[in-house]
Amino acid sequence: MDRRRFLQWGAGGLGVVCLGGILYPVVKFLKPPPSVAGTVGGATSVGSVSSFPAGQLTAISVNGQPAYVSNVAGKLAVHSMICTHLGCVVAVAGTSLACPCHGSHFAATGAVVKGPATLPLPPYHTQVQNGSLLVGAVDLTGAAYPGWYKGQFS
Ligand code: FES
Repeated sequence: MDRRRFLQWGAGGLGVVCLGGILYPVVKFLKPPPSVAGTVGGATSVGSVSSFPAGQLTAISVNGQPAYVSNVAGKLAVHSMICTHLGCVVAVAGTSLACPCHGSHFAATGAVVKGPATLPLPPYHTQVQNGSLLVGAVDLTGAAYPGWYKGQFS
């Protein structure tokens, strides 16, 4: 291979690399991120049912992740406290929840009351057994949560 041919091959290869560097972010931008569904995590006991009084939201930890128990008219439910906007931990504010990062508000049911968050706080599977509240996997089937959100629980 002579010098001219070698330089032509080198310039061609460099062109391909540069083109890939330009096209890769364009393709990543145009292709939406995968959404997730299904459940993540295993069952754990978070305490006696009687320790979650009616009308209150109680912050707990499920497998090391922040969550809260709501007791609305005797019906217990557990939701994640990880904000669906950008992943900050929301805080209990009376009978609702507020995100300290960008001001989203959520109802006790996990529903978005005020954005910028658009997705509800996902619930956990729960079960009462021998007076204890068992919390299972987080349920991401209620909305098209982005892939990064699933990573909060793995
Ligand atoms: Fe909660 Fe932005 S992270 S509102």
